[in-house]
Amino acid sequence: MVSTAGPLSPLEARPSPALGGEARVPGDKSISHRALILGALAVGETRISGLLEGEDVLNTAKAMRALGASVTRTGEGAWTVRGVGVAGFAAPTAPLDFGNSGTGCRLVMGAVAGCPISATFDGDASLRKRPMRRILDPLELIGAHAVDAAEGGRLPLTLHGAHNPIPIVYRSPVASAQIKSAVLLAGLAAPGTTTVIEPEASRDHTELMLRHFGAEIVSVRDGAHGRRISLQGQPELHGAAVLVPADPSSAAFPLVAALVVEGSDIVLTDVMTNPLRTGLFTTLREMGAQIEERPAAGNTGEPMAQLRVRASRLRGVEVPPERAPSMIDEYLVLAVAAAFAEGTTTMRGLTELRVKESDRLAATADMLRVNGVKVEIVGDDLIVEGRGHVPGGGLVATHMDHRIAMSALVMGLAAGAPVRIDDASFIATSFPDFVPMMRRLGAELS
Ligand code: S3P
Repeated sequence: MVSTAGPLSPLEARPSPALGGEARVPGDKSISHRALILGALAVGETRISGLLEGEDVLNTAKAMRALGASVTRTGEGAWTVRGVGVAGFAAPTAPLDFGNSGTGCRLVMGAVAGCPISATFDGDASLRKRPMRRILDPLELIGAHAVDAAEGGRLPLTLHGAHNPIPIVYRSPVASAQIKSAVLLAGLAAPGTTTVIEPEASRDHTELMLRHFGAEIVSVRDGAHGRRISLQGQPELHGAAVLVPADPSSAAFPLVAALVVEGSDIVLTDVMTNPLRTGLFTTLREMGAQIEERPAAGNTGEPMAQLRVRASRLRGVEVPPERAPSMIDEYLVLAVAAAFAEGTTTMRGLTELRVKESDRLAATADMLRVNGVKVEIVGDDLIVEGRGHVPGGGLVATHMDHRIAMSALVMGLAAGAPVRIDDASFIATSFPDFVPMMRRLGAELS
């Protein structure tokens, strides 16, 4: 039942002519997971449009079914969920397999922790390596209990949910939306107020969507960069309509491709522009990127915009550590942009990159090095020496990580020689349409 590695599927990106045209990248992954989970915890019907139909999100949909919700696909990106109500999950009869997805797994752990049931959580070889203690610690304070975990609280593990969940005040040591969301989702079932304090503001989609579904939730500043988020427990969540905007973390790939492939001029539509997700756009603009933004509005409190991106001469910059939560998934592709820039780009405070789908700090450095770019890791900082061009010609190891795969392919579109990746199959976890969409924009991928 647990996902096993399929055959490798290598792919090559070749120096391409100018990219052009308009594209809508798939729905936001974070919002897609949350729409399914909150729909499953609400009473009544939730209609979702624009859902990301990538493997990560499909695994969350399966988990919601296994926990008792009715989840139906009614058309492309169109899904209907009938929920069971807060704390209403039923015990699944088989282990829940989250494949490659840390977000799906950790958020569902939070939702299960508030229910008086037991569930076994598992995933692929990449997810089995990732730390779960950071989630289990607060969930155990709420009254849940993990057993049979592999060393360090890793998967596979069985979570016994709390029979009488306790509202807690949790000061998270890490600025992680996954930790914050897991605590809030467990706190839904507790009487009274559950509070999470985060050292730096992380993406707030859970808070915005909880409010959209009828919960009472307040978020205030805490210190220079942090937030204190308080949720009133045991709300009546009601089903709601959710329009999922396009994922800025996926838009990052065609966007950087258009910046570095000479003569390019593309438009990306409906891109979510929540300020807690747009650190990459800020950084690229500081580097000299031409990104024009025309605002549009969604229905879940999430801002979105149309982005026109034109090929640009980029210069190296210093990226401060406090920007990391707002662009945590974008450093790989930023490193590609930095390699094509003139001058040094220093990205500071990247410790969290070590515990993503792969050790992304090491993998980014390797991806650049095998393609002739000078790069250094100093402590938790990544330093890329931009020379205005990239030799290319390398074979990049993707380590079961979709974002390494897509970043390396973007690099190959503008490098001096083709860039190959060992395995493109994990791209399907977040951006199943990546290759055909990039080809439609003019990219040479085969
Ligand atoms: C996510 C949060 C981030 C991010 C992940 C999606 C989310 O992880 O890397 O891809 O949807 O909450 P952390 O919260 O652990 O930084």
